[in-house]
Amino acid sequence: MAAKTILVTGSSGLIGSEVSEHFLRLGWSVHGLDNNMRATFFGPEGDTRWNQRRLAESYNDFVHHELDVRDRSGVLELMRALRPAAIVHAAAQPSHDLAARIPFDDFDTNAVGTLNLLEACRQYAAASPFVLMSTNKVYGDAPNEIPLRELETRWEYADDRFTNGIDESFRIDQSKHSLFGASKVAADIMAQEYGRYFDMPTCCLRGGCLTGPAHSGVELHGFLSYLVKCNVEGRKYTVYGYKGKQVRDNIHSHDVATFIERFIGSPGAGQVYNLGGGRGNSCSILEAFHFAERMSGREMMYEYVDRNREGDHVCYISDLSKIRRDYPGWDISIDLDSIFEQIYRAMMERSSEVSRSA
Ligand SMILES: NC(=O)c1ccc[n+]([C@@H]2O[C@H](COP(=O)([O-])OP(=O)(O)OC[C@H]3O[C@@H](n4cnc5c(N)ncnc54)[C@H](O)[C@@H]3O)[C@@H](O)[C@H]2O)c1
Repeated sequence: MAAKTILVTGSSGLIGSEVSEHFLRLGWSVHGLDNNMRATFFGPEGDTRWNQRRLAESYNDFVHHELDVRDRSGVLELMRALRPAAIVHAAAQPSHDLAARIPFDDFDTNAVGTLNLLEACRQYAAASPFVLMSTNKVYGDAPNEIPLRELETRWEYADDRFTNGIDESFRIDQSKHSLFGASKVAADIMAQEYGRYFDMPTCCLRGGCLTGPAHSGVELHGFLSYLVKCNVEGRKYTVYGYKGKQVRDNIHSHDVATFIERFIGSPGAGQVYNLGGGRGNSCSILEAFHFAERMSGREMMYEYVDRNREGDHVCYISDLSKIRRDYPGWDISIDLDSIFEQIYRAMMERSSEVSRSA
């Protein structure tokens, strides 16, 4: 029987590469689409070619397409030729701060690129599940309106309704999103609309902090990956505002991939899920420093700037109740300690590979 085909955009990035590898291991034929825009966005440290090479060298069933999601006719042509059984759209301009400097590239990639893929999917693979990697920034900074308590190392919700975190009914408008958040809102609503209007099996995954060893972490994107990189290399990490007590919930890319497998196996239409590490995998920046220090034995060098990033969340924890209810059996399988350990080990391996080849 011929292998099923999946199209994964952003296949050289953190989520795209993890999803590609996951489906390759399940025996699928994977077509990855990526043009290394991350290097254009963030410079050499954001370069994802190493990950593209790794996939191509490790798997015969991986085919790379050097294509830009903004290239409408290219996307239509690829979808027509492949008619994939599933689509995972993980290509994006992913940084809040960078978006304000490149608003056209940001919107064209995040919003228009998503429309290109959705419409191509409708024309050539309308019955195939379509998963969009969305973000918790669709809620803008409205989560900052929740009353908070200050604890020794983190901010904590002071309203019991949010003990489990923020769920999918949280409002998405009338708050500050950053231009990135706004372009992702457009993509998120469009993916929902293709689900509801055309009855296509679409799903938006509103990510918390997605992380793992395959991230090409840079200061503007890739929280834990960049933080561990600074620790390992003895670089100074800059903390922006909120006393360093801002809370993120971290999910390993493997757990994202296992959920995507579950959705593709049993899809809904126009679905929305918050997908982060939940309370169990949450940490503040100060707490993340302790994790990194414990792992490497090196003290974290950092400076504090008393100015928060525009629209930055003070405390964000994803409520995973809906996803657990709809997909029983799926859950977070990799805890924070293991996440740090994996990122740390991969970073040490990559830096020794670089010094061997230098
Ligand atoms: N990493 C996180 O913390 C996080 C959190 C919430 C949501 N998300 C979302 O998840 C998705 C994946 O994030 P990631 O961390 O894997 O990002 P990433 O930057 O590691 O991967 C994205 C990949 O897309 C490629 N790409 C970018 N623009 C492109 C274009 N125009 N055409 C073709 N390829 C292009 C990049 O080269 C990169 O390899 C994104 O939609 C992001 O917004 C990520």
